[in-house]
Amino acid sequence: MCGIVGYVGPRQSQGILLSGLARLEYRGYDSAGIAVIDDNGDLGMRKRAGKLSVLRSDLENAPLADGTTGIGHTRWATHGGPTDGNAHPHLADDDRLAVIHNGIIENFGELKAELVAVGYTFRSETDTEVAAVLLGHEYRANGGDLVAAFRTVAGRLEGAFTLLAMHRDHPGLVVGARRNSPLVIGLGEGENFLGSDVAAFVEHTRRALAIGQDQIVAITPDGVTVTDFFGEAVDVEPFEVTWDASAADKGGWSSFMAKEVSEEPDAVANTLRGRVRDGHVVIPELDGMDELFTNVSRIIVIACGTAAYAGLVGKYALEQWTRIPVDVELAHEFRYRDPVLDPGTLVVSISQSGETMDTLMAVKYARERGAKTLSICNTQGATIPRESDAIVYTHAGPEVAVASTKAFVAQITALYLLGLHIARVRGWARSGTEESMQVLELEAIPGKIARILEREQERIEQLAHWMADTRSVLFLGRHVGYPIALEGALKLKELAYIHAEGFAAGELKHGPIALIEPGQPVFVIVPSPRASADMHKKVVSSIQEIRARGARVIAIAEEGDVAVLPFADEVLRIPLAEPLFEPLLAVVPLHIFAMALATAKGLDVDQPRNLAKSVTVE
Ligand code: F6R
Repeated sequence: MCGIVGYVGPRQSQGILLSGLARLEYRGYDSAGIAVIDDNGDLGMRKRAGKLSVLRSDLENAPLADGTTGIGHTRWATHGGPTDGNAHPHLADDDRLAVIHNGIIENFGELKAELVAVGYTFRSETDTEVAAVLLGHEYRANGGDLVAAFRTVAGRLEGAFTLLAMHRDHPGLVVGARRNSPLVIGLGEGENFLGSDVAAFVEHTRRALAIGQDQIVAITPDGVTVTDFFGEAVDVEPFEVTWDASAADKGGWSSFMAKEVSEEPDAVANTLRGRVRDGHVVIPELDGMDELFTNVSRIIVIACGTAAYAGLVGKYALEQWTRIPVDVELAHEFRYRDPVLDPGTLVVSISQSGETMDTLMAVKYARERGAKTLSICNTQGATIPRESDAIVYTHAGPEVAVASTKAFVAQITALYLLGLHIARVRGWARSGTEESMQVLELEAIPGKIARILEREQERIEQLAHWMADTRSVLFLGRHVGYPIALEGALKLKELAYIHAEGFAAGELKHGPIALIEPGQPVFVIVPSPRASADMHKKVVSSIQEIRARGARVIAIAEEGDVAVLPFADEVLRIPLAEPLFEPLLAVVPLHIFAMALATAKGLDVDQPRNLAKSVTVE
């Protein structure tokens, strides 16, 4: 939520800031703004409500004066509506200081009252302006030391924040601070960058530093200084970004989502890459960490939204292979219910961004109460992995479309790898041959996803086109198909803005069947009869029951399953797979369908209304 970029160096900063913001727009697109210290030493600022394109055309018509130090912001509104006035940057110290912010300052009311009492006035409804005015106040009080003023301010703020500031008296300096919100440094030659994530600067440099909790950074063209909030120098570990700028471009696709769905085979293959040797799972990141798994008596998976559905899928495999009880819980529910946690509990968090505040807070809570923590994450240098005892990265590559697709299949893949790893560490009672068989099946998944994209995509798009006026769609699944029904419904809600619900097929007769009326579209994920002939028969019975009440049934069934043919209006085929791995296939038609229906309705699939990709507020 909210994207932040900063630049100091020899180049004109406006273009660099705007292209950085374009790559961060997934984090929020209610308004955007930039500030630049120009070559005459003045501070120029422009901000506009609406998407970045509004700001861009405004600047094209009336550019700011050139300057080589600048900061930029793209906003997801929290305090104050999405107006020009509430957009960032916010100015203070007689418009000589510019500040941008990501997060929520919880004590902004008290601070504002304090500042009003000594005569300050405010131009916006935001918490950010309070931080800006306070910074200006401290800066004047200490005689013009921006970094020292920043330290004082950071120490007074409560809540979550990444703040960047620059002052026209200090060209060539951008200062940043972070607590519970992301900030990374990009290291260039004679230039340096700050960003909410590496996408902000990856087209200029792939060398990066991640800033830790409660730290302050000052960048100049020639150097980077990182201290804690008390001014003590801290060590920061550099890392190399593993993807290049082209991975975060649309590359000729009509939308980032179309590109990302097409990359689902690669997301699985890349997450497996380097982690399978001679038919066994080898996760180098977990080397020497066996103890984390040997003493575990319980696993709790925490995540939000689509990532939580990945966790639900993973539960079936983890329990089957490791025989450790697994609970899956929404991160925002977890820490408010006094969960039972002890050193025998392994809390596995799943987060594409690694910044979701609900998940981060739940991880910290679990750690404080003595549980072990492991993070499954797609973003290097993000906060959640840094706060965890162990990390397994997914390698889906940058996911730009706000709704998650390729990261979902990568998360499930990582959970399978983790399950097989834990099972082996704990001396899987069954033979290594069984592990090799699962690994072989897993390695075949990318090719099978590619086959679905090749064979079914056009037909699904046609179906979505016909259904463009549909007001409600239901999704049914059973066993591992149940979380896929939930995911299919979520994707349709957020992309196409229509009512959609996912149910466990067995629940139908306990209530939801009342929703069925003639013409009601229902997607049914049909489990393989090879998983359980009984379960397959029951799902086919469910199809018959809803069909008898007029439902229009779209079945997702494995190739060769003819039992569904007499009762389904449409059958979308997925290749045969080990039943536990079917979710990786069954979800693909649902991702295509949601995207195609939204497109048929003329909606922006990359930036659905009211959403932001990285939810960094609770
Ligand atoms: C849905 C979606 C969200 C995210 C959720 C968690 O398409 O993208 O539900 O899955 O906000 O985000 P991460 O994985 O970044 O923690």
